[in-house]
Amino acid sequence: MSHIPHRSHWNNRWTFMLATAGSAIGLGNIWKLPYMIGVNGGSAFVIIFLLCIFLVGIPLMMTEILLGRRAQKNPLDGMNVLALEAKTSTHWKWLGGMGMVTGLLILGFYSVIGGWVLRYIGASASGAFSNITAMQSTENFNQLLASPFSLLFWHTVFMMMTMGVVARGVNSGLEKANNILIPALFSILLVLLGYSMSVGDMQAAYQFMFSLDFSKLTPTVVLSALGHAFFSLSLGMGSVMVYGSYLQKNVSIARTTIYIALADTMLGLLVGLAIYSLVFANQLEPSAGPGLIFQTLPIAFGHMPWGNLIATLFFMLVAFAAWTSAISLVEPAIAWIVENTRIRRKTAAFFLGLIIWLLGVAVVLSFNEWKEVKIVFGLNIFESLDKLTSTILLPLGGLFMAIFAGYFMKKDHVQDELNLAGYKFKLWQMTNNYIAPIAITAVFLYLLGVIK
Ligand code: PFF
Repeated sequence: MSHIPHRSHWNNRWTFMLATAGSAIGLGNIWKLPYMIGVNGGSAFVIIFLLCIFLVGIPLMMTEILLGRRAQKNPLDGMNVLALEAKTSTHWKWLGGMGMVTGLLILGFYSVIGGWVLRYIGASASGAFSNITAMQSTENFNQLLASPFSLLFWHTVFMMMTMGVVARGVNSGLEKANNILIPALFSILLVLLGYSMSVGDMQAAYQFMFSLDFSKLTPTVVLSALGHAFFSLSLGMGSVMVYGSYLQKNVSIARTTIYIALADTMLGLLVGLAIYSLVFANQLEPSAGPGLIFQTLPIAFGHMPWGNLIATLFFMLVAFAAWTSAISLVEPAIAWIVENTRIRRKTAAFFLGLIIWLLGVAVVLSFNEWKEVKIVFGLNIFESLDKLTSTILLPLGGLFMAIFAGYFMKKDHVQDELNLAGYKFKLWQMTNNYIAPIAITAVFLYLLGVIK
């Protein structure tokens, strides 16, 4: 029998909620959601996105938490235990294994982007955006991407911050960090919103994000809303499962899941409003993707009162969001090492951190020296990792988790864990067993180009 140390648990329901919200709220909410709303028809997209959160995101998050809490183990051994309990093939453990690897692959590039954010905290604090022109701003961003040394430095700092927290363990590391960072993140959000309301153009932002335009509603929009609902709630790779494995038995999974999903969604929408109200107040283009917060937003801040201070706070908010998500990406693998070997958590964190750091070095080079090195689908290293994980591995993980809980586990066991009866349980069953698998399969086929 392998060495099994005492298993930690969250101190209370609140800290579990903060930690899981910390995992969900990340780079995905802050630049991706606002931009997707903008290009996908405003409120039409918002309505579909909310439907996806409720019909697929929430039931699947409940599923992941219930799997983790029942197993009381890391995702790989946890799936093994659950498969034995369900008297089915223990090959299900590879689902947990796949999730752990997915997390490490995501962190390989997430950490590099986290590094950009740290760099931008420094730049805003030193007043680098004051009166900046559009050309200077683009130039700044391109210069950062072209400099392997700079990228590597900030990637290293971000990795050290992440592994430093993970090394301290569930209570003194994960729990403490989330207890501080998530309330801080929401406090900064309030300041940012107040600022945007007083100096930004909230009305234009509101119209841009929420004006009804169903003409832009296409199958692509529906499917991208679903894909993003999924990524945004951190589903499909075992982060939520391992957090659920540290959750006490007496906590209601359904209620906490709803709070977490609401916090994640509200934060994305509010940050979007704040960003766009500043963008429109400065007559800037609501441009797409990474450019929005790293190129467009600095121009807005550079021309507004207290711009440097607010920009510093804004990038701190982004950094806190990225940091708490990064922690959750590595925890499943750390839990597996600690629960299976005599290696101490600190040592495990160091060596795993080193491996992810090396992967990050390849990602750093893919922005400059290795730009032309193609891996899969004609994409470079960064793009390949992003595409492989968020569009293939995460949906696949989520799909199989739903199938396992819905069709392989004993109904009594699921019911016991969810502690739901009557129509509430039926609702979970219908969404987990039918709606979620069908929706994910559709997204999956679409992303693979089978559905156009
Ligand atoms: N939910 C995070 C975001 O929106 O940025 C990304 C993420 C974190 C995805 C953890 C998956 C995960 F396991």
